[in-house]
Amino acid sequence: MQQYDLISVLERVSELVTPSKERREKVEGLLRESLFKVESIIKDMGINAEVVPVGSVARDTWLPDDIDIDIFILLSRDFPEDKLGSVAVEVARRAFGSYTLRYSEHPYASCRVDDIDIEIVPAYKIMKGEKIVSSADRTPLHNNYLMGKLNSNLRKDIRILKAFAKSIGVYGAEVKVEGFSGYLLELLILFYGDFISLVRNAADWRPPVFIDIERIASKGEALKKFDSPLIVIDPVDPNRNVASPLSKTQFFRFVAACRALLNKPTEEMFRSRKEISFTPSRIKKELLERGTDIIVLLVEDLDLPPDTLWTQAKYISKRIRYVLEENGFRVLWCAGHTDEKSTVAVAAELESLEIPKALIREGPPVASQGERDFLIKHISDKNTLSGPYIEGDRWYVVKRRRFFNAADLISDYLSGKNAPKLVRGRKVRIVTGNEIGKVPEEIRNFIGKNLLREEVFTEMLV
Ligand code: UTP
Ligand code: MN
Repeated sequence: MQQYDLISVLERVSELVTPSKERREKVEGLLRESLFKVESIIKDMGINAEVVPVGSVARDTWLPDDIDIDIFILLSRDFPEDKLGSVAVEVARRAFGSYTLRYSEHPYASCRVDDIDIEIVPAYKIMKGEKIVSSADRTPLHNNYLMGKLNSNLRKDIRILKAFAKSIGVYGAEVKVEGFSGYLLELLILFYGDFISLVRNAADWRPPVFIDIERIASKGEALKKFDSPLIVIDPVDPNRNVASPLSKTQFFRFVAACRALLNKPTEEMFRSRKEISFTPSRIKKELLERGTDIIVLLVEDLDLPPDTLWTQAKYISKRIRYVLEENGFRVLWCAGHTDEKSTVAVAAELESLEIPKALIREGPPVASQGERDFLIKHISDKNTLSGPYIEGDRWYVVKRRRFFNAADLISDYLSGKNAPKLVRGRKVRIVTGNEIGKVPEEIRNFIGKNLLREEVFTEMLV
């Protein structure tokens, strides 16, 4: 791999992340056109609202690919909350024909024109310091704040930073990523002044990192209130940490990537990466080599928003890991995934799908208080394989496990009363390593990625 010094790498990257004249004309033209349509439809509907462009297109901090145009319809506070969805739907339908209804805290509509998403988001118009109904209400304030601060150098470095964050897999505040939102990255550039200063500082970040650009919050109180590796006080709301969705893993991945970039600058750290695909035989070969096995559960035919599916996938994977370990299975990793449409998958790599039926259990000390109860419980129990016997100063007993097969254990757990809500009353498919061919390709790739998990920048660190 060719290497350059950081400055010349950044010069080349800057070209890569700056939209071409044609692209800019297309996106900005589409924005103007969309604003015009939405405004006239709103007027036509007799609604008193302000239509404003927000987000990265309005601020000129967007990356050439993966664009979404964010258009907000700002309603007065007396507009009924339960009608926000129907406003979004009506506007989207009349302006663009087809749309997808989505939800964050409130419903909004998403329309696609060529390769560009247009989000139509109804929100309440609030003034700085006023109470919000949903977090979308803050967004226009973010826009006003940043528009008063940004200049072309900051915009250039924001684009570079977005590409960097995307390339290393930390871009996005959604549950899937638990990373840095676009707004957070913009604030970081604003605070440190430029990309290089941010990278130099972040290379030495140790949690908790506290950033309060406008000096509007108390550090002591913020540290108590926010349990987060990175605290960035929202300049438009001192009670909000913009970095609250950021996980510890993503925080440290960013820190390590900054160190890697300083150590061996390369353009690769700014390029988007394509997904590696894993054939069933590749997965089987890896498992054979590792002497391990995997177990996969698939919950299908769901109809929930992406963030909910991701939350469920992650939650169920935590539960499954706990149940497996609690029952004596050794888990190398356990992770959740979703196709963001209808399937939640949880996969775990285990040292073995079957473990011995025998299990040794330590009892109380000889002649102690608990001795009699322990002996009564185990002497004639049908699951006692041998003992109780004395070793040193204690009693021991060898028992038969209730579950020695991971698939049996998981089916029992999923049909029991402690099962996660999502799976109750649903059929869950359980698949193991040799049946990996039965798993959809996307989920197979997720499993492959976990089997061969690594960071994209590791080599640049040494
Ligand atoms: P977007 O997710 O579209 O972000 O949210 P963006 O700034 O436009 O960046 P990209 O280029 O599309 O990725 C639109 C606005 O919603 C608010 C921010 O004000 C953002 O600019 N927002 C969104 C948040 O404050 N936090 C979030 O997690 C997401
Ligand atoms: Mn956007």
